[in-house]
Amino acid sequence: MSKFLDLIKKQRSKKKKEKFEGTFIDYLEMIKDNPDKIKLAHKRLYETICDHGVETIDVDSEKYRDIFNGDKIRTYDYFKEEFFGMESVINKLMRYLKSAAHKGEESRQVLLLMGPVGAGKSALTEHIKRSLDGQSYFHLEGDPQRGEPLQLIPRSLRKDMEALLDVSIEGDISPVSRWKLLNEYDGEYENFKVVESTFSQRGRRGIAVVPPMDANSQDVSVLIGTEDISKLDLYPEDDPRVLSLNGAFNVGNRGIVEFVEVFKNEIEFLHTMLTATQEKRVPTPGKHDMVFFDGVILAHCNESEWNRFKSEHTNEAILDRVVKINVPYVLELHQEMKIYQKMIQRSDFRNAHIAPHTLKIASMFSVMSRLKPTNKCDLLTKMKIYNGEAIIEKGRVKKVDIKDLKDEAKHEGMEGISTRFVMKALDSALSDSDKDMITPINVIDSLIKQVKEQIIDEEASSKYLEILQKIIREEYLRILETEIAKAFITAYEEQAQSLFDTYLDNAECYTTNSKVKDKITREERAPDEKFMKSIEEMIGVVGSARDGFRSDVTAFMFSKLRRGETVNYKSYGPLCEAVEQYLITSVKDISRIVTKSKSRDDNQKKKYSDMIQTLIEDYHYNENSAEEILTYASNNLWRDS
Ligand SMILES: Nc1ncnc2c1ncn2[C@@H]1O[C@H](COP(=O)(O)OP(=O)(O)OP(=O)(O)O)[C@@H](O)[C@H]1O
Ligand SMILES: [Mg+2]
Repeated sequence: MSKFLDLIKKQRSKKKKEKFEGTFIDYLEMIKDNPDKIKLAHKRLYETICDHGVETIDVDSEKYRDIFNGDKIRTYDYFKEEFFGMESVINKLMRYLKSAAHKGEESRQVLLLMGPVGAGKSALTEHIKRSLDGQSYFHLEGDPQRGEPLQLIPRSLRKDMEALLDVSIEGDISPVSRWKLLNEYDGEYENFKVVESTFSQRGRRGIAVVPPMDANSQDVSVLIGTEDISKLDLYPEDDPRVLSLNGAFNVGNRGIVEFVEVFKNEIEFLHTMLTATQEKRVPTPGKHDMVFFDGVILAHCNESEWNRFKSEHTNEAILDRVVKINVPYVLELHQEMKIYQKMIQRSDFRNAHIAPHTLKIASMFSVMSRLKPTNKCDLLTKMKIYNGEAIIEKGRVKKVDIKDLKDEAKHEGMEGISTRFVMKALDSALSDSDKDMITPINVIDSLIKQVKEQIIDEEASSKYLEILQKIIREEYLRILETEIAKAFITAYEEQAQSLFDTYLDNAECYTTNSKVKDKITREERAPDEKFMKSIEEMIGVVGSARDGFRSDVTAFMFSKLRRGETVNYKSYGPLCEAVEQYLITSVKDISRIVTKSKSRDDNQKKKYSDMIQTLIEDYHYNENSAEEILTYASNNLWRDS
């Protein structure tokens, strides 16, 4: 057999899983043993997402307390690999679904995601819809609405049936099924055929999308279906057989109806949405009865559309039916970086070389563009604080409360540079590269170019250019200088650790007024004041501040050891910084000379090539990017010498 045919047949037989087919009585028998198969749309969606796994974050832990403001936060596995830094949004969304699943007021409300461009509203909606794709559900055969078969049961019998089956029954069958029941089944609903289908967006089963339409092309049939003109000649006007129930509310029954950029539509159009939520019914075309609708209505829009819509008081009825969730941009650097990692992974550039710090630098730009200035600290510091980094000032970890910063900047995250803007700059830097790589240097250039071309608002443009050309450039040079120096030091970590140990020994003896014992000679001597000072001055700890610093370090380390934790040179932020600076300073001159000089002697040549090797092996550069950053460093760092 042909390999292709083989493949096709295999796939087909796999797909042909036994699907339920039977009479309504068979269906009842099946339900009796599996009452949990009966659920309304919100519940189904909620459970489908939760089935992938849910975890509760310990918000009392130091790491999360500030970020989530002490709110109880869950992480949902279904979103984990796709969305970053959106925990709060996803939690609000799931909270909505949960109350709606319990038939709270939320089940009669539209869920609206509102946020700036490129914040992930469409992606989130897509992902939610995809969760239903392939899930199975039962419905009346030939029913355009794919309604719940239990709706066949007449009102007078429902109480008893509900008790027997341990389920609750809502809504009525569609006019099309009603016609079939009366004319094809003689009213004997126990014989009505029930089938099993799977949700499918492409197959228009249980998932429907309503794109925005302008006033001229807007036609309510998109929502509720039409009357088939060719059949109007055959049947009387009120005969359900003339109905083509293929509108979004028919198709999306039992699943999801998505409204893309919902407020671009005319208000009349939206009234159907209102009826659908309020009454759980939607009109049918022509002179027919309304039909039952049970589904999650998911809409999204941007802020200006929302504001415009909100300002019209005639829209109050709809506003009252909306649960709005803000979808702001990400403000945490490490999360923003993950977005670009994901996007590049999924693009044709996935094999390109991304030099160290490139995505960080790009993300710094988008995050900083979104931050409101504060007089508590500068923008870069604010970004680092939001990112959970310790800010060290004069030998101490600077205490700035995230909550305070957030409180004074309420609207933060709703404007600034979008993910799409940054992605375009990364793409164009990658396309322009003839070495199939990007570095922070050409990404900064690409971003600058794009700002100049695309940001028309002058104030915004100059703010963004200042971030790129000044703040980010300087920060990058700092990172680079440190990295080059580090790469210059052989066995960097060991050296840092050894300096740390020596400092700690001395500081401890100084604080406890005792002698330092030499590890080898066992000789005792006074703590080495000169050495300690040379470390301390690296972070501006001078004069009377020294005693405090030394005892702080000692106390901190003791308390860690007491708790059985291991300590290394990174354990105490301020000291780590001091040790690193000390090491870096010690090689600064030589690393500058070697990097900068045009003609190197043999010794320098070896040092240079060793450094390149370290950059490649330990710091994830490749030959080209290492060369490029070194050239950049020699042109931009160490200017004055
Ligand atoms: N926090 C995030 N985590 C993961 N991906 C994200 C995040 N924010 C944005 N994205 C990605 O950014 C891209 C743009 O997002 P999307 O198109 O969903 O934005 P949008 O809010 O619908 O914007 P618009 O208002 O322009 O329609 C998507 O590929 C999305 O996956
Ligand atoms: Mg969108």
